[in-house]
Amino acid sequence: MTLHSTDPVYLDHAATTPMRPEAIAAMAEELGHLGNPSSLHAAGRRARRVVEESREQLAEVFGARPSEVIFTSGGTEADNLAVKGLYWARQDGAARRRLVTTSVEHHAILDSVRWLEEAQGAEAIWLAVGDDGMVRPAALRAAIAQAPEQVAVVSVMWANNEVGAVQPVSELAAVAHEYGVPFHTDAVQAAAQLPVDFAASGADGLTVTGHKLGGPVGVGALILARGAAPVPVLHGGGQERDIRSGTLDTPAIRAFAVAAAACAGQRAEEAERLAALRDDLVRQVLAAVPDAVLNGPPPGPDRLPGNAHFSFPGCEGDALLMLLDAAGIACSTGSACTAGVAEPSHVLLAMGADDLRARGSLRFSLGHTSTKHDVDAVGLVIREAVDRARRAARSGGG
Ligand SMILES: Cc1ncc(COP(=O)(O)O)c(C=O)c1O
Repeated sequence: MTLHSTDPVYLDHAATTPMRPEAIAAMAEELGHLGNPSSLHAAGRRARRVVEESREQLAEVFGARPSEVIFTSGGTEADNLAVKGLYWARQDGAARRRLVTTSVEHHAILDSVRWLEEAQGAEAIWLAVGDDGMVRPAALRAAIAQAPEQVAVVSVMWANNEVGAVQPVSELAAVAHEYGVPFHTDAVQAAAQLPVDFAASGADGLTVTGHKLGGPVGVGALILARGAAPVPVLHGGGQERDIRSGTLDTPAIRAFAVAAAACAGQRAEEAERLAALRDDLVRQVLAAVPDAVLNGPPPGPDRLPGNAHFSFPGCEGDALLMLLDAAGIACSTGSACTAGVAEPSHVLLAMGADDLRARGSLRFSLGHTSTKHDVDAVGLVIREAVDRARRAARSGGG
């Protein structure tokens, strides 16, 4: 078996997924129009209409009211606004210094919380997860119950970007609310593949982004319940109810809404299709490499349908990634790489994996363009790639 292929196989949809053709068409059309949606003249009013229609479309997709949708530049900004803004808003005379979150969040949450600790005197409580990556509502209850009056905000992601664990968000929101604490969830990974209903979830804040569901990069939203009033991170022209200043990107907003609506229209069938492809991928990988370990919850309701995440004992994930890349297969280690030095995934470490297992892991994430051909391509080359990565690791070259 040789590691050669001419058809590129893209299995990194959790990093970013191709724009949907209807979103590209909507964006291209809108780029030809002039107008700042805050301007009062006809061109401005036209742009405003596009923004408000898009807001309504997104609100409908995500079970929210249009007035609850605050546009941002993406998931990172929405997470920063939620965590910092809600924390600051809760320093209204009372010393609510605690933030409760999990040890498996995306860095947009993790690092916002750490910054609040280091620069603002906050105290983080990091909820542990099980070896499947799941957060237990009882753990949240115990964390808040120690001193409910000191907890400013709780943030727990809807679905994990590395191992695909789908958290019991509405149960967690209910626990936070029992103690009167606002609850935020990062639904960036969930939004493309699961029915994300803001109202039904009970959350006070919910983060989504365009480029994980077939829209453009650089646009997202924080959905905010009435009554949740974060202190702004960006100050300026007072757009978005003064919560997020900055001229709105009409073409990107329109394309985001078109992509989200397209996604929602096919969600149930697409989730089923992706789960079947993912199950096939898992079967083929475990057949080719019997000592590989599937990380995260078992395939089923607790796992994103498009997620497969493995540890390959004796391999460096980065080496394996590059070997697969050379074979035309794009995937990810899912972990951060700082200055060329591979860091073991904080998610796998939090799930109890040791350093070696965490470093030898790889994520394959499927999305709307994924096919059986992609899955079979991995099945065909994974054994040889793992053998080579193991030889490289043994000779110190991994
Ligand atoms: C769970 C999660 N949150 C937040 C983000 C950041 O979103 P954006 O790339 O739109 O800033 C990502 C992106 O990888 C993510 O997976």
